[in-house]
Amino acid sequence: MELDVGKLFSQAREKPLLMIPGPTEIPWRVIFGMIQRSYNHHDPKFNVDVLDATLIKLREIYQTENEIVAVPGSGRVGLQAAINSLIECGDKVLCIVAGIFGGWMREMVQRVGGEAVEFPVEWGKNIDLKEVEAVLGQGGFKAITVVHNETTTGCMYPIKELGKLAKKYDVLFIVDTVSSLGGADIKTDEWGLDINTAASHKCLAAPIGLAILSVSKKAWKVMEGRKAPATDFSYDVYRWKTMWIPPERGGDMIFGFRRQPITMPVHTVFALREAVDMALEEGVENRFKRHRIAAKAAREAVRALGLEMFPEEEIASDTLAAITVPEGVDSRKIIDIVRDRYNIMISAGLEKLTTGIWRIGHMGMTASPDFILPTLRAFEGALKEVGFLKKVGMGVEAASAVFEGENLM
Ligand SMILES: Cc1ncc(COP(=O)(O)O)c(C=O)c1O
Repeated sequence: MELDVGKLFSQAREKPLLMIPGPTEIPWRVIFGMIQRSYNHHDPKFNVDVLDATLIKLREIYQTENEIVAVPGSGRVGLQAAINSLIECGDKVLCIVAGIFGGWMREMVQRVGGEAVEFPVEWGKNIDLKEVEAVLGQGGFKAITVVHNETTTGCMYPIKELGKLAKKYDVLFIVDTVSSLGGADIKTDEWGLDINTAASHKCLAAPIGLAILSVSKKAWKVMEGRKAPATDFSYDVYRWKTMWIPPERGGDMIFGFRRQPITMPVHTVFALREAVDMALEEGVENRFKRHRIAAKAAREAVRALGLEMFPEEEIASDTLAAITVPEGVDSRKIIDIVRDRYNIMISAGLEKLTTGIWRIGHMGMTASPDFILPTLRAFEGALKEVGFLKKVGMGVEAASAVFEGENLM
């Protein structure tokens, strides 16, 4: 198929393209889904027909039979709700820290009085599972925390293998999938995730506003057996079991009707319903595959431009590309040119990688040639403008070849 870069560009110029690693572009259908009258959030027409129905449908994306709950807030709120609800003063937790977001969970454990034992991982490198096992073998741990897709570095970690270790050492397995759920194959039940906590605004392609957690039977039991109630009231996940989940699904529904423990953002839930329906209509396997292809296309483009990916190849993320800034190139200038000249937003790195990498998200609807090719073309244009490239087109060509080979163009 002939590539019409001109057409792709004019599409991109009509409105800014958000190619940062979340929040990401939202389909119009999802945006229109929010156009609703104001609801009483306890009205079963919302509570049961929309909120609960959406949470049940999400089980297919999570690949779980566990209950899923959603709480108002951004991605970090889900991490915090999980840790506040499960970890008590003095509990020893193994916190795998391979980037900023892993570090946040360590801090959250410390803030509830837990003993966080950090397992540091060099940014961009894989986790040494033998070392993890050696630490777990010392005993006394209640939980492991890990980020599946470290958005800081563009690394996707082997949580299946970590899940086996969690099972072997009988510890809770708390996983942050904020930037991967909906874009990557995550087998919550098969891999033993006790908490799988994601967000509405990344690969699910819905607006910012909901943190979404699946909770295993084991996790509910641990919450039930706490010495003291969770320190945080609003984000105590256990209240979902006592107030919301019906008895036939293992809950208590203490008020006799399904009462949300916290007032839910009704319109965001309507949007999420649409986003989940779109994902299921696409088919979860197709969706995961589309993200894998997008990631491959981005990696091939990076190579064709003479650049390098930041992560080790075997753990390069399916949902964002982290690209090493070459010597002598001003990383900020590239981001500014891509934004000002081409109307496309890409990201810098974070903290010690601020000027060391660029991060380009391919999440939800943007994991497609329609978004990735104009972004690559703009990126090449910027690299040419600063004198790093002599001509443009190699990256777009390499990525197009991947998309064409997979019949996505
Ligand atoms: C892996 C991961 N965890 C947690 C967060 C925090 O999410 P939020 O900024 O939505 O609170 C992010 C945000 O980018 C993330 O990428």
